[in-house]
Amino acid sequence: MTALNNRQFLLARRPTGPANREDFTFQTVPVAEPAPGQIVVKNEYLSLDPAMRGWMNEGKSYIAPVALGEVMRALGVGKVIESQSPAFEVGDYVHGVLGVQDYFVGEPKGLHKVDPTLLPLPVYLAALGMTGMSAYFALLEVGQPTAGDTVVISGAAGAVGSVAGQIAKIKGCRVIGIAGGKEKCRMLIEAFGFDGAIDYKNEDIHQALKRECPKGVDVFFDNVGGDILDAVLTRLAPKARVVICGAISQYNSKEAIKGPANYLSLLVNRARMEGFVVMDHAANFARAGAELAGWLAQGTLKSKEHIVDGLETFPETLQMLFKGENHGKLVLKV
Ligand SMILES: NC(=O)c1ccc[n+]([C@@H]2O[C@H](COP(=O)([O-])OP(=O)(O)OC[C@H]3O[C@@H](n4cnc5c(N)ncnc54)[C@H](OP(=O)(O)O)[C@@H]3O)[C@@H](O)[C@H]2O)c1
Repeated sequence: MTALNNRQFLLARRPTGPANREDFTFQTVPVAEPAPGQIVVKNEYLSLDPAMRGWMNEGKSYIAPVALGEVMRALGVGKVIESQSPAFEVGDYVHGVLGVQDYFVGEPKGLHKVDPTLLPLPVYLAALGMTGMSAYFALLEVGQPTAGDTVVISGAAGAVGSVAGQIAKIKGCRVIGIAGGKEKCRMLIEAFGFDGAIDYKNEDIHQALKRECPKGVDVFFDNVGGDILDAVLTRLAPKARVVICGAISQYNSKEAIKGPANYLSLLVNRARMEGFVVMDHAANFARAGAELAGWLAQGTLKSKEHIVDGLETFPETLQMLFKGENHGKLVLKV
């Protein structure tokens, strides 16, 4: 193989508050020769996820933290350009943990093939990627919506939220999205078919919840936590299900995580609040992928990607998630 250079972001220190450029080392090294069993992948698109901020923290979580000096963890899609593995051929496209770098070199553990002739590659990071899997399993297995339910989704104009809302519509629910700004709220209704939207940045969320959910909330799909979770807890319907998919409002907090003051609403309404981790459902990803792909083909599900160009912009592009600057799934084009 001709000498190739690999630009990489390594975690240099554990951030306090938002992660910034100083928390990473940006280095260029030659691409290593693959050992027997290894492959070389040219990364094409990387998934930027709020969870990346959590992976930078020390301490017990659902996954080991990224070690200091390690290439920052990221899911991605790319093309196999060299293979010493019988499972992959040069020219195959793969999805998996490829890291914030130009090239992945290593054992193809956990990588699987994707077909760019069926769908554009970024869709395999969005509606057909971990985003779609999270929306699908968190809504259907934890939220357990039935037709006619009122489903409220926070972070609704983002990657997971927009897919979860559309799946709830497919299942015959009344879907209300909570998002920041008029434009995102319009997008929820006009592009994704939501029944209503609440602009948490410009309206009183308690009043808006009363207006949009007169019969209460049967399923709350929470991506945000904090004050929004607390507000929705006050509107639960009897036997409601609260899905804790994420809590992005808390990820950069330098103080203790803000817990739900209104949790006794769970008692009063005999409701349930349950945490969710997408990897628990890995054994069923193929089944979900087939159903999601079917909805995409029918046009009942739309995948929206927000693509930013340039590996070198990684720290600033990641921040877009925490500033609400993304519309749909945030993807970095390498
Ligand atoms: N549990 C799991 O297995 C799993 C898997 C995947 C994702 N998740 C979680 O799902 C959530 C959504 O992830 P995603 O990838 O789809 O990201 P995303 O929704 O595409 O992007 C994040 C969005 O969060 C909103 N936001 C940021 N800071 C906020 C704040 N302080 N208050 C309210 N809203 C805020 C912003 O939208 P606005 O402009 O509307 O504020 C932003 O666009 C995250 O919490 C993530 O950790 C969990």
